[in-house]
Amino acid sequence: MDVNKLPVHVGIIMDGNGRWAQRRLMPRSVGHNAGMNRMIGLASHAKELGIRYMTVYALSTENLSRPQEELDALFNLFRKYFTRNVKKLYRQQAAVKVIGDLSALPQDVEKLLSDGEKNSPENPQFTLIFAVNYGSRPEILRAVNRAVEQGEPLDKEGFEKLLYTSGIPDPDLIIRTGGEVRLSNFLTYQAAYAELYFCDALFPEFTDRKFDKALENYASRHRRFGKIEE
Ligand code: FPP
Repeated sequence: MDVNKLPVHVGIIMDGNGRWAQRRLMPRSVGHNAGMNRMIGLASHAKELGIRYMTVYALSTENLSRPQEELDALFNLFRKYFTRNVKKLYRQQAAVKVIGDLSALPQDVEKLLSDGEKNSPENPQFTLIFAVNYGSRPEILRAVNRAVEQGEPLDKEGFEKLLYTSGIPDPDLIIRTGGEVRLSNFLTYQAAYAELYFCDALFPEFTDRKFDKALENYASRHRRFGKIEE
């Protein structure tokens, strides 16, 4: 793989966990567990390749209206990840960051997630960003309201400092698994020039090899950012 053509930041919409489980006549929570394991594998693979940032859509603002049983299963996965797995990431000089409105989560989960961010190593080689109770529209509205409170006109850089993603470069590549072709409120401001890649594989079946195929496809594209080619 040509390292010069690797994305710096990859976003992943991890869709298809529920269907993966249902096809096996298992509860949806089993699919989310399989999805978490796949996410851990992909993060480690992305780090090995030299990708610097990976944002995973772990829970959208809309997902919060799912049945309590499914939400509880997801919160348990967060508890598991942020008490056990995250330490392995730290040992590899990798950090976690969380974007979204954490105030609506169970208090212990909110604390685990913010501690996970606080305890991360400084100057990491890789940052895994969890979008949790995240939606682009609430993110933009929150930033606009903060801007209004400040009462000063803002330029692009000033506005971007008010987004959850302040300090994180825009995603170069956004991958969505599970066959749907939309962004579903994921990083829509930041995705202005992102390359989009859609894939039919359900997330638990989105192997490292399939991820590499997405990277190869990305590397073959010409990014012009609205300019004409020289
Ligand atoms: C969408 O698939 C996926 C989610 C709503 C949750 C994704 C969460 C994980 C993979 C677990 C992440 C774990 C941690 C610790 C961050 P879906 O359920 O909508 O699938 P479907 O379209 O087949 O119903």
